[in-house]
Amino acid sequence: MTMPRTVDFKETDLEAVDAASGRIVVIVGADGKMDKGARRVNRLSKQALSRYLASKEFGKQEEGTVRELAYPAGLQAEGILVLRLDRRADALQARRAGGAIAKAAGDSALLVLAGPHARAAELSFGLVLRSYKFCTYKSDRPEEGPKPVTIMVSNPESTAAQAGPMAALAEGVFFTRDLVNEPANILTTNEFAARLAAMQGLGLDVEILEEKDLEKLGMGALLSVGKGSASPTKLVVMQWHGGKKGEAPFALVGKGVVFDTGGISLKPAQGMEDMIMDMGGAGVVSGVMRTLALRKARANVVGVVGIVENMPDGRATRPGDIVTSMKGDTIEVINTDAEGRLVLADALWYAQDRFNPAGIINLATLTGAVIVGLGHEKAGVFSNADALCESFLKAARTEGEGAWRMPLGEAYDKLIKSDVADMKNSAGRPAGSITAAQFLKRFVKEDMPWIHLDIAGVAHVKKPTPLAPKGATGWGVIALDRMIRDRLEG
Ligand code: BES
Ligand code: MN
Ligand code: ZN
Repeated sequence: MTMPRTVDFKETDLEAVDAASGRIVVIVGADGKMDKGARRVNRLSKQALSRYLASKEFGKQEEGTVRELAYPAGLQAEGILVLRLDRRADALQARRAGGAIAKAAGDSALLVLAGPHARAAELSFGLVLRSYKFCTYKSDRPEEGPKPVTIMVSNPESTAAQAGPMAALAEGVFFTRDLVNEPANILTTNEFAARLAAMQGLGLDVEILEEKDLEKLGMGALLSVGKGSASPTKLVVMQWHGGKKGEAPFALVGKGVVFDTGGISLKPAQGMEDMIMDMGGAGVVSGVMRTLALRKARANVVGVVGIVENMPDGRATRPGDIVTSMKGDTIEVINTDAEGRLVLADALWYAQDRFNPAGIINLATLTGAVIVGLGHEKAGVFSNADALCESFLKAARTEGEGAWRMPLGEAYDKLIKSDVADMKNSAGRPAGSITAAQFLKRFVKEDMPWIHLDIAGVAHVKKPTPLAPKGATGWGVIALDRMIRDRLEG
């Protein structure tokens, strides 16, 4: 997998500035005052820094952005990166500023003079997240990864302690991004399951249920999606036991469609390649589980992902087919492209039936309609439980991951009534994201606190974000980890 670049926290040693290679980062507030480190850089660079700080341009430099003074005389370094960041910046501002450094510096070595800045750990977290690059298939990829980062601070030990759990998170996010970025000829259902099985080594319990197991369990909904594919359908269960013995786990459930052609209800060619990301929900669940194991979270959490490929074929499910879910409810398949809800119906039921969890959150790149509604800024949030929902929304707000609650209700549920079965899998365009959520709700037990996150717009994007290059974002890993920490480990 793509590993996060390494960051070293060291006690400030200004001698090191003289010979530093790559780029040197100095942090300056709006007042343009130089701290000790900046003054050293200024002296060595023959006042290049102070001249810039006195200029009109610095006056216009926005908070949280980076400006490069390239190839300064008197220094070994290739550039001085001036980060404008207030001393009172909050965690998220510092994290995003770290992202701005990474974007400006690329792979080059970095010496960050953070001195007494309180947010050095957050800064390094953002720097690491934004340094992600998916270049497995580029022949001209650099032989080594990005060069190391040294952050000089006044309190290296406590900063490194703060950064510990962040390193676990970064690895979880990168794991998710890799899974989502992989093309479907590489990330087949078998390969996906194998990558999850490998997490056994981290202390997770990983089980893989094969088609014959799913048949025995009666998972006719999940199995119907994979009938046209040459790759076998699977359900993977990952358990992390870090909490009290015997305490009910929290469940995370993900849609893992490794490629969604639409099936017999074939999608148009234009943009179909984006459907490599249709396993994004399962990818986030996997990334969270990896993070929990890496940071030895004190919580019981189970991840369940349905892994399947939606292809057209002589054996594929047809529009009009009626399938029976594990719950026992029958479903009329109106549109084979509304396959995610079929995957989740059985995965949700299985998670509740087997684990009787304290609560359940599912994630899925479920509908194009959520992109019409919320664009690529926020995920759609649907819930039957206000308290749980509020705690997720709060975590998402804190971590800067966009999320917006949408309605549920009887009137929407009526739209998925079928003439011939218990329900149909598609109600057409009106309220497309909500009717999909209503469908899922039918597979959530009475009184089970539940959230459905429709991440179709945020899992994979065409433009870089402050903390990710274009492509897979890993949206949700950080917010879910935060929610688990605050709610279950508190
Ligand atoms: N995987 C798609 C949803 C999707 C669309 C994800 C765009 C990411 C980007 C899902 O399986 C799908 O095809 N949904 C249909 C449902 C419809 C047939 C009821 C849709 O949204 O068009
Ligand atoms: Mn589809
Ligand atoms: Zn899909």
